[in-house]
Amino acid sequence: MTTVFEPAYAKVNLTLDVLRKRADGYHDLKSVMQTVSLQDDIFLTPGTGKPWSLLCDKEGIPCDGRNLAWKAAQVFFDAAGLDPDGLEMRIVKRIPSQAGLGGGSSDAAAVLRGLNRHYGMPLTMEQLADLGAQVGSDVPFCVLGGTVMCEGRGERMRPLRPLPDCFFVVVKPEFPISTPELFRKIDDADIVLRPDHEGMEDALERAALSKVCERLCNVFDPVVSQEHGELDQIKAVFARCGALGWQMSGSGSAVYCITNRQEAAEQIRQELSSAYPQTFIAKPV
Ligand code: C5P
Repeated sequence: MTTVFEPAYAKVNLTLDVLRKRADGYHDLKSVMQTVSLQDDIFLTPGTGKPWSLLCDKEGIPCDGRNLAWKAAQVFFDAAGLDPDGLEMRIVKRIPSQAGLGGGSSDAAAVLRGLNRHYGMPLTMEQLADLGAQVGSDVPFCVLGGTVMCEGRGERMRPLRPLPDCFFVVVKPEFPISTPELFRKIDDADIVLRPDHEGMEDALERAALSKVCERLCNVFDPVVSQEHGELDQIKAVFARCGALGWQMSGSGSAVYCITNRQEAAEQIRQELSSAYPQTFIAKPV
């Protein structure tokens, strides 16, 4: 029996716009997504000869068919026409849940990539991303990784020039966010400030980190910040420590800032980590 290791990187949204509600209840989005080095570890052991199992070192994570990693394995074996004869999946969890950091999605994507590698690449990256779309909206991006313009539900992807080297400080406040509820709120909200995607693409193309940071924009951020003043307090620390830009990631509740100075990242972590134990420094991947 061989055990395959695959890293599962967290994602942050550099931009996030909600364009319209669709007939199927989902929303068409436009978002520049970025993988960062905050990661879960995925270990896959096919051929155990026993019923499938999923082990996770963190409490409160479902360890059965409800877990996106499990669903990803199912769609992979169906699509590849393979029978693993038993599968053990082990997840070492570091990415906070209910954070807007794509934790469950990146685990699912890592399962797709890891199994595909183990079986000698029976599926293309494009096929893996299509399978990912059946598991969750953010999974196709997590299969691909990097700096990517995502549209539709997230399945239409265009890789962009990679984000210049920098440091992210990611902070997860305790309060959770219900993504479906937040989408319902945005349906009723007047969206005043939307991302300038042309400007963001131009800044990335020119590798101009400060311009990228000026153009960070997530339409969910004002909606959540209005209800949870805590986010503004965290952002005030980012600003005081000289970060170049900051905002909430995805549907929250994690917020992040970007800096090009390691000392600034360390100072921000030091100032926030006692109040927010889930504070991480990460790099673009
Ligand atoms: O696809 P996923 O399970 O990640 O989405 C969670 C929920 O977020 C969906 O059930 C839906 O309510 C909402 N959503 C949406 N439009 C998207 C992505 C998610 O309305 N593009």
